[in-house]
Amino acid sequence: PRKIIIDTDPGQDDAVAILLALGSPELDILGITAVAGNVPLKLTEKNARKICELAGRPDVKVYSGAIRPLIRELVTAEEVHGKTGLNGPDLPEPTMKLEEQHAVDYLVETLMREEAGTITLCPLGPLTNIALAMIREPRIAPRIKEIVLMGGGFFEGGNVTPSAEFNIYVDPHAADVVFRSGVPIVVMPLDVTHKALTTTKRIDSFRKLGTKVGLATAQMLEFFERYDEGKYGTDGGPLHDPCVIAYLIKPELFQGRHCNVTVETASELTMGMTVVDWWGVTKRPKNAIVMRDIDHDGFFALLVERLGRL
Ligand code: BDR
Ligand code: CA
Repeated sequence: PRKIIIDTDPGQDDAVAILLALGSPELDILGITAVAGNVPLKLTEKNARKICELAGRPDVKVYSGAIRPLIRELVTAEEVHGKTGLNGPDLPEPTMKLEEQHAVDYLVETLMREEAGTITLCPLGPLTNIALAMIREPRIAPRIKEIVLMGGGFFEGGNVTPSAEFNIYVDPHAADVVFRSGVPIVVMPLDVTHKALTTTKRIDSFRKLGTKVGLATAQMLEFFERYDEGKYGTDGGPLHDPCVIAYLIKPELFQGRHCNVTVETASELTMGMTVVDWWGVTKRPKNAIVMRDIDHDGFFALLVERLGRL
């Protein structure tokens, strides 16, 4: 199986991404690192543990990382995810322990220890932990196999400002470090995730699984979708973060282009904007595969099948 580390700020869609990974034998989750984002760090690390326990996997190692972005103040998204970050289901307080090691130390130590080119990083939140690890130990970058991340919005525009997507906006300086790192990157931007909508019918198919995981997923998504339904008038909300994990299992569900991505870190107006050279009008290096399309029926079929295994 492919070795991955999930870096995350759960978040209902982060939670579904973690469940998808836990239900997929193609993936070996070495660890989960929590970062501040949707809600403060104390809640994201706890939510990560709640989800592992929901899936019956208290053995998964969960680490706590950066409490705030590199330079800017932390911006959170309780209006989307609720006060706990995981509003919807009534999940018990976790009993599994949080690892003592700091997430950034864990990332560095693991990448330096494991064979080079074998670990894929899956960032589902602001890129603070990943950037800090790269700054702390520059030798890790060439050892990372690939970074598959949820972030940015190109043709679609932003969801937190007119030009910026939440994960990049919260820590644009960290995103800048990551996009300049030379590590091969795959980006799942809003252009893709806004096509992965949790319609009523799809939520019902999670509930119909008749399991604890299926019910909690339906409850999470019902809470989560009310925000986007209100804003965009769609049937359902965008299931952002699970796109990252789905790509690792079935890359053929997605279509995109290899191009250059840079991050705006100076202008307050467009702070955190991801600028993609889709047409190759510059000589900047192609540092990322930017996805633009998704087979959303195939994506949901995969999700239901894999969550059904838990
Ligand atoms: C991203 O922001 C968070 O609210 C979601 O979990 C997702 O990672 C979407 O912009
Ligand atoms: Ca997230």
